Amino acid sequence: AIQETLVLVKPDGVARNLIGEILRRIEAKGYSVTDLRMVEADRGLLEQHYEEHVGKPFYEPLVEFMQSGPVVAVRVAGQRVIEGFRSLAGATDPTVAAPGTIRGDFGRDWGLRVQQNLVHGSDSPESAARELALWFR
Ligand code: CMP
Repeated sequence: AIQETLVLVKPDGVARNLIGEILRRIEAKGYSVTDLRMVEADRGLLEQHYEEHVGKPFYEPLVEFMQSGPVVAVRVAGQRVIEGFRSLAGATDPTVAAPGTIRGDFGRDWGLRVQQNLVHGSDSPESAARELALWFR
């Protein structure tokens, strides 16, 4: 069935001028961008977005990093797009993400307390519905 997912170009992706490259890969794969906005996320939004990570060691650095600059929130639609975008993004840790993926081609470890890994993609239909409602309310 046609799915929707939330993609975020994180502050590192925006700062490195990778918005176009990331959207290009999504569209080249055949998925459709159906909504898009640039957001300076506030702490409340990020606490809701990352609620499943509360208490993890990277939670606080992650919420701070996501407030370090604008992010681009993208609504993407297509058959099995949730799984498909996660495949395009590559593994969470950019050091080992496969070449050919967004994180594998453009990401690396910068020695910081959080993985700066350029993009976020929803991990399930339930997460996608919840996250899309937060970022496109
Ligand atoms: P994201 O898909 O946005 O979901 C949670 C984020 O936390 C993840 O991408 C990374 O940016 C970050 N993250 C996940 N695991 C770790 C980790 N072990 N150390 C640091 N940051 C992490």
